[in-house]
Amino acid sequence: MPDSSSVPTRGRTLDHAAAVYDFVEPLIMLGKQAEYERDIVNLLALRPSDRVLDLGCGTGTLTLSIAERLDPSGGGQAVGIDAAAKMIRVAREKRSTPATWYTPMAAESLDFEDGSFDAVVSSLFFHHVDADLKLRAFQEAFRVLKPGGKLIVADMHVPTTLLGALISHVSRWVLMQPEIGENTRGILPELMLRAGFAQPRIEACYFGYIAVFSTTRP
Ligand SMILES: C[S@@+](CC[C@H](N)C(=O)[O-])C[C@H]1O[C@@H](n2cnc3c(N)ncnc32)[C@H](O)[C@@H]1O
Repeated sequence: MPDSSSVPTRGRTLDHAAAVYDFVEPLIMLGKQAEYERDIVNLLALRPSDRVLDLGCGTGTLTLSIAERLDPSGGGQAVGIDAAAKMIRVAREKRSTPATWYTPMAAESLDFEDGSFDAVVSSLFFHHVDADLKLRAFQEAFRVLKPGGKLIVADMHVPTTLLGALISHVSRWVLMQPEIGENTRGILPELMLRAGFAQPRIEACYFGYIAVFSTTRP
């Protein structure tokens, strides 16, 4: 598969949205994108030499925030993968530094060695794949993490407010995306456990429908 082609997957990829994604996402995040990404990066408690994998990295905003805390001369690297080649192209054009590396790849089929990352992170990716692919992506994250490595997942989960419930239900039905319904029924923690991770903890909640989970590979 050439390095510039999208990767076959059942996941809902966003090639069609790559050109506008950077304008739309700040609106969806109601001006809190920087705070949200800073919280995720802080939870990673990075060392400068860490290798970090960002699943479904989109246009690379979170990958770049992570890379800014790493030292590439000491081996630190933030790797962003996304099945949509057009998202990867935007990430490469706008958010490349010596500490970043972006490539088209499916999260359920990672082309990395076992135990090759200190941390795996993902933001708003898991509601784009069905339950089978969610589990496979968690299993792959587990495989590529070193023992003791961290997994941080920020995604749609059981709504905690009326507004959160409204947004979840509207997006599930307007986008005709049953994968969102799986998330909002609370499937993610159980799948992390099935993949072998320690009991996940909810570290933060955004807008009443996005939970930030942290766990580790024992
Ligand atoms: C809502 S975007 C999130 C992008 C970015 N992480 C963020 O927080 O802005 C979801 C991303 O998942 C990607 N995606 C969908 N299925 C995928 C898969 N199976 N493997 C990797 N990426 C996938 C889409 O192409 C899209 O870029």
